[in-house]
Amino acid sequence: MIVTTAQLFKHAYGKYAIGAYNINNAEQVMGLFRGNIQSQAPFIVQISKGARSYTDKRLLEAMLRAAEEIFPTAIFAVHLDHGDEETCYDCIESGFYTSVMIDASHLPFEENIAVTRRVVERAHEKGISVEAELGRLGGVEEHVSVSEEQVFLTDPDQAEEFVRRTECDSLACAIGTSHGAFKFSGTQRLHFEVIEAIQKRLPGFPLVLHGSSSVPQEEVERINAAGGRLKGAKGVDPAQYLPAARLGVCKINIDTDGRLVWTRVHREFFRDHPEVFDFRPIGKIFMEEYAKFIASRNELLGSAGQLEAVRAALSAD
Ligand code: G3H
Ligand code: 13P
Ligand code: ZN
Repeated sequence: MIVTTAQLFKHAYGKYAIGAYNINNAEQVMGLFRGNIQSQAPFIVQISKGARSYTDKRLLEAMLRAAEEIFPTAIFAVHLDHGDEETCYDCIESGFYTSVMIDASHLPFEENIAVTRRVVERAHEKGISVEAELGRLGGVEEHVSVSEEQVFLTDPDQAEEFVRRTECDSLACAIGTSHGAFKFSGTQRLHFEVIEAIQKRLPGFPLVLHGSSSVPQEEVERINAAGGRLKGAKGVDPAQYLPAARLGVCKINIDTDGRLVWTRVHREFFRDHPEVFDFRPIGKIFMEEYAKFIASRNELLGSAGQLEAVRAALSAD
């Protein structure tokens, strides 16, 4: 069943976070759905602009519609990740996405508000939820490159004004994370005091954490032992997911970790089976390993085991 992110957040708020996982291909879709069903978790499927143009956005939609039939008990939202205004409108009009992110965080405050407000108006006409972003994450995003020096944490006072004026449904806050596999160097850390201050000003309002992959060191070591070169890769401590959820973080974005699973599986397989050139044996291993990974993250997010409670809450609404 495809639902909005707002519906999922209503059940999760203050108790657990929903995992938001990016997809690009069929193997990721199968692993993702299997892992969520195995762990009985509601989830968010994220589609970036890059994913929409990797094969074709229509293929992604067709795969997800098929997955909905293959896994009839799944409850998930379909969300545009880091959208610009034009892509948000395309997704809103598609009749398929139930949630979009307008990422105008690189613009000055007033312009961010104006763009976000326009998207909110168009989305709400169709019952679609809108995630907006305030503050800047480090690392490289789709269309914006932000160097470490330019990282700006979200200002709690601005967050309150931003949400009031835009009427967005959730807010991605910058608290020290960044996208990719190299999140922390030197004294960089997560700023929980910023989420706390935002929650005080916006009680009950769903917050979102981007750049939340944990970059498991075992995964990095295995990749490097099989020929990779990921020196100094570091992520968020996944033991922080639940404390963040208790402070109103309802959505935790994880993409890089899935790419690491893919890289480890493929590097090890081709190292150990140099004679193989069929992609199905390795695709099967990846789907299994990705499903295991998703289930393990859902345990840490607290979303594991919530599926039937969410279903009951949805039918009571
Ligand atoms: O925040 C970005 C996500 O990890 C998606 O990455 O734009 O390369 O698809 P992508
Ligand atoms: P990671 O790079 O930490 O997986 O973050 C993903 C993300 O924020 C997608 O929007
Ligand atoms: Zn992101």
